[in-house]
Order: sequence, then structure tokens, then C-alpha cells
Amino acid sequence: MNMDICPENLLPFLKTGFIGRQMVSREELESTNITAIELGEAGAAGGLLVAADHQTGGRGRSGRSWFSPAGRNLYFSILLRPECSPGAIPQLAIVAALSLRDSIAEVCPEVNAGVKWPNDLLVDGAKLSGILCSMSAIGDRAEYAIVGIGVNVNLEKHEIPEEIPATSLKMLSGREVSRSLVLASFLNVFEKDYLDWIHYGSLEPFIERWRKCSCLDGSHVVVEQGSRLLSGTADGITDDGRLRLLDENGAVVLACAGDAHIRR
Ligand code: BTN
Repeated sequence: MNMDICPENLLPFLKTGFIGRQMVSREELESTNITAIELGEAGAAGGLLVAADHQTGGRGRSGRSWFSPAGRNLYFSILLRPECSPGAIPQLAIVAALSLRDSIAEVCPEVNAGVKWPNDLLVDGAKLSGILCSMSAIGDRAEYAIVGIGVNVNLEKHEIPEEIPATSLKMLSGREVSRSLVLASFLNVFEKDYLDWIHYGSLEPFIERWRKCSCLDGSHVVVEQGSRLLSGTADGITDDGRLRLLDENGAVVLACAGDAHIRR
């Protein structure tokens, strides 16, 4: 069994109060998000971590799949029970992207990843990590949220299908990186950020941090929202997580969702 992402390996590095203290760790799952949703429906407590060495049906954003080979990367989901409106849940993916960026910089100081709205980590245009959030609501309150994260840790260049513009910590640092260390470091940073987000009730404390590592700011960006296109010069995010675009007249256009691309 190739499952080194387990409580025995994680706990020595964990400084959290509740996130990751309960863990479901499997060699293979269809998708850690699906398992986390099932456990959320069954009443599991907030902070539960679900991790797999390999996903047979890893989910990406916009109905895409997530390349999930065994023994290389991190695939995990966190179940959270924030007391907030359903509309605030997408902000969690922005918080998680910043936590992940900073925790990766701690473990691999040579890797300087950028955040791409809404929640990708990129290095030179290649994807290092993706985040997929989902949630369940009862009326106007969120019942639970799932933050699902895939990080390319020890993937080698020859293992990546040609059509996927991806990179990994190993490709960027030239060395094998401990998956448990990356995961524990993320959970430590994320718990603090999550509690700040709850405390402020918005992304206000994260706006400047985002600006410092955004790979879109200052570029001319097109946001695809199905058949609708928004465009302008990216200028940070709002404290509810929308992308600010400045049109040719300097007027602010806000994108609340979609896939953003830099127009070259
Ligand atoms: C994206 O498209 O960028 C989001 C990818 C999210 C992938 C992760 S891997 C762990 C979790 N389980 C899934 O099925 N998806 C997320």
C-alpha cells in the first residue's frame, strides 16, 4: 500500500485545533469531494479531512476531470461548517488558494506560485494546483462546505498528458517533496486563515495578500461565463471574491464566476 498520507505521518506536523484532526485516508477513492459530501450528509463534524492516494474520477471545475495518478500528488477535501450564507462559500476557495500558496512557499521556498482568480495556483502559466468547492444549504444558511484540493507534488514531466499544461513541486524544485509535509503545512496555514475569514465575515483581510501574488493583475483578461465574455484589465478582487476588471474607460466591471484567461 502506497498510502503515506495518513494520521501517523500527518499528526507530528499538525498545529491545528480542529482542521485535519479527524481524517479519512484511503488508497483509492472516486473523488475525495464525493466522499466528503457523503460524510457531510451523514453529519460528520467540521474540520474532517478526506485524502486519497489515487482518484478514479477526480473532479475539476466546470465539469472537467482532474488528473489523479497514484503515489505522486495530493488529493484531499476538507469538510467545513461555517455559519454563513450560501453565497459566501466561493470565498473559501480564494482563502484556500492563498493558504496553499503561502504554505507551499514555506515547504519549497524556491517555488513562487501565483494565484489566478478564482482559485488556481500557477507557475509560468502551468497549473500547480486546483481547488473545487461545493456546498449544501438549508434555506439561506450554508449547511456545510467542501474545499477539495489537488496539488501536483512529485509528478514528473513525462507523466503529464501533453494536453494538460501542468507543473509540480518536484519539477520546479528538482527534488522529491514530502506530501505529508505539504498537506500539514497547508492545514496549519488554512485553519488560521479560515478563522480570520469567519471573524471578518469577508475577504477584507486577504485583499492585499491576493494582490501581491495575483498573476492576472495588470493584464488584459477575458472571463468566460458560458457564452458570455467579460473583459478588461484585472485589478484585484472585491471583499466578496469578485474579480475587478477595468474597461477601456476605466469603469469597474465585476466578474462573480467564470474561467479567466490573459489576452496575449
Ligand atoms: C480545478 O479544476 O482546477 C479544480 C480541481 C480540484 C481537484 C481536487 S483533487 C481533490 C478533490 N477531489 C476532487 O474530485 N476534486 C478535488
